Amino acid sequence: MTHWPDPTSRSKQLYDRGLKVLPGGITRTMPWQDPFPVYAARGEGAYVIDVDGTRRLDLLNNFASLAHGHAHPAVVEAVRRQVGNGTAFTLPTEQEVALAETICARAESFEQIRFCNSGSEAVMSAIKAARALTGRPKIVKAEGVYHGSYDYAEVSLDSNPSNWGNDPNSIGYSKGVPKGVTDDVVVVPFNNVEAAERIIRANASQVAAVLMDPAPSYLGFLPMSKDYIAMIECVTREIGAVFILDEVITFRAHSGGAQTLFGINPDMTTLAKIIGGGFPVGAVVGRRELMKVYDHRAGKPALPWSGTFTANPVTMTAGKVTLDLLDDSATDRMNRMNVRIINELNVAFKQSGFPGQVTGFASMFMIFGHTRPVIDYRSAYATTEEANRIKALQRALTDEGFHLASTGKGILSTPMTDADIDHFIAAVSGITKGGLRT
Ligand SMILES: Cc1ncc(COP(=O)(O)O)c(C=O)c1O
Repeated sequence: MTHWPDPTSRSKQLYDRGLKVLPGGITRTMPWQDPFPVYAARGEGAYVIDVDGTRRLDLLNNFASLAHGHAHPAVVEAVRRQVGNGTAFTLPTEQEVALAETICARAESFEQIRFCNSGSEAVMSAIKAARALTGRPKIVKAEGVYHGSYDYAEVSLDSNPSNWGNDPNSIGYSKGVPKGVTDDVVVVPFNNVEAAERIIRANASQVAAVLMDPAPSYLGFLPMSKDYIAMIECVTREIGAVFILDEVITFRAHSGGAQTLFGINPDMTTLAKIIGGGFPVGAVVGRRELMKVYDHRAGKPALPWSGTFTANPVTMTAGKVTLDLLDDSATDRMNRMNVRIINELNVAFKQSGFPGQVTGFASMFMIFGHTRPVIDYRSAYATTEEANRIKALQRALTDEGFHLASTGKGILSTPMTDADIDHFIAAVSGITKGGLRT
């Protein structure tokens, strides 16, 4: 058992080794925390154990991709069996058909599915599908909403007061994004019906797709309003654009995803994370009429699709076992635990005077370092001081045995118990009550 950050720890030694061969010492930006990240050795249910033997409640679950925490015995057993039979073939498998059937049975708009290896790839493919179907170049997305790492999907992900403009400007996320990309992405404010409709209609004849997340994580999992949903459905139908719903993260909200809970009627949906049972996955699922864009039987399809590890039987097996175990009662239990976190921490913050709030949806929550009502990206946007407040909270929680994102995001898993939630609420309440050194 060590405390973090301990300069004599094995995590620090691994980080020093990593620095020599990996830019910045690690591969993914997400797990970074200053001065060096914790390195995982193994996981057990709701807990992750680091290379120094410290156990922490895993409130990230590989960023929402593990519904049942780590190494669920049924998933491990099924995967072990599959690995013994081969891990990848240049042939389709029964496992691919079985997971496709399981997912397609879950929501009304899920008629046919194509698998890939990540949510980013799924979003990229859905956008390309919309372009192929409509012959139009532009996509519409909401300001500050994350859809993975594809130039078009990343536009205006981190706009700030100095560049976001009145109606949202289209801002490339990384250096070197070609002007063609920002020209072809129309950015709208989330949940602002009047402004979004006006902006979409102004581009009507050019719009291939409207891409939306029903409860964007960067906005504290703020649910899309009924009026906004109705507007997107109506406008996409009228202008002949494809409505793509990105349920990569929100699918865990209900057996039929957030679209079933909210009554959303998308043309295509992107999925990933929990449908792979802990293995790399992505998928585009949608109406048969549109999914024919991928159909290769008459020669080269409108949108050719491949991928060496696409629909590999290990991922397909783990995904099927995971989804079969995730019934509505397991999901409801997680969702109720999340409501406790949100309600009890908001009461604790009010009582202690901590300038923060907790928002969330389904089994996902976000701790903000401010008390402004979060209604869109701009109200969610954290100043440096507010962001540092949450980073300090996360650092203190790391030392108290909890693994959380440095942005304050947390995701629950089915092996978590009420006692785990009690401990977490008590730890956050205790740390924020005592004041935080940022
Ligand atoms: C809404 C949403 N879309 C797309 C992605 C990208 O998925 P992946 O990380 O599997 O590429 C994510 C990942 O967090 C996401 O939350």
